[in-house]
Amino acid sequence: MRADLAGPPRFLLLGACLVLAGCSGPQSSLDPAGEAAERVSELFWQMLTGAAVIWCIVIGASVLASYRGSRTWDDRTAFRVILWGGAVFPTIVLAGLLVHGLRLMPELRAAGGDLRIEVEARQFWWHVTYHAEGRPPIVSANELRMPAGGIVEVVLTSPDVIHSFWIPAIAGKTDAIPGRTTRQMLKPTRPGIYRGACAEFCGSSHALMAMTAEVMTPERFEAWLDEEGGPAKPQASAGEQVFQQAGCGACHTVRGTPANGTVGPDLTHVGSRHAIGAGILPNSPEEIARFVAHADEVKPGIDMPSYRMLPEQDLMALATWLAGLE
Ligand code: CUA
Repeated sequence: MRADLAGPPRFLLLGACLVLAGCSGPQSSLDPAGEAAERVSELFWQMLTGAAVIWCIVIGASVLASYRGSRTWDDRTAFRVILWGGAVFPTIVLAGLLVHGLRLMPELRAAGGDLRIEVEARQFWWHVTYHAEGRPPIVSANELRMPAGGIVEVVLTSPDVIHSFWIPAIAGKTDAIPGRTTRQMLKPTRPGIYRGACAEFCGSSHALMAMTAEVMTPERFEAWLDEEGGPAKPQASAGEQVFQQAGCGACHTVRGTPANGTVGPDLTHVGSRHAIGAGILPNSPEEIARFVAHADEVKPGIDMPSYRMLPEQDLMALATWLAGLE
């Protein structure tokens, strides 16, 4: 026997590896880091196994039928096969799935939490406000941080169009609908950095509307809230002057400076975020400069104007100052 016939063909092995690799990662329901995602993952594997068994039965039946040649069943047997295989069996399977699915829902919808986070979905970013017990509201943007083991109530709104809030590794998706308030309960279980996305087409930069979700240990989360709730500690630099002269403060807030705009994301601690531009660019002075100068190209359709007219030196000073807001 030739060696290459001894095992499964290589392309099958490669295919299996690629398929399984797609099951893990920071944005996968099948690599859960939250209770709701664990239920989704369990349900997926149960349904996949069930579907595989049923597929084998159906294919087995058709192979068997082809071996029988032109012999036919009598009417009584044919009627029984159709009744049991075509009506009773699917009814039992589907009813079982429905009951199983409904049983999971109250658990995932339980109200009340240790932490309430208001998320307003906008074209094309996330305005985030933390309401933690014993603290004043803390405004941030494009990131969701939460403590492992806690229960987080996410309250969703939208001022413009329908968006959908989805962090696959932690829970399912919930729409943010203009004129309504929707809710989602998150029960993150495993510390780590995950990726969320807008899951409803909301305009030209829908695919560029992502977010970072970081699940932290409760101690680290409390320390982070202390930091995030405080004012910025800006370095006095030429960049701050550029920020003020270019009028950035009309749309952005940097607490601790005169900038108090609310049209765009709060930039008080933008330098400490994992990414910029709502999860799409690495957080570095170079990328911030690119975003500021070419906002319309980096994210088509956003409200922010592009500042191509800024001299290169001013642009880099501004970007360096922003990156230093930790
Ligand atoms: Cu917001 Cu798609």
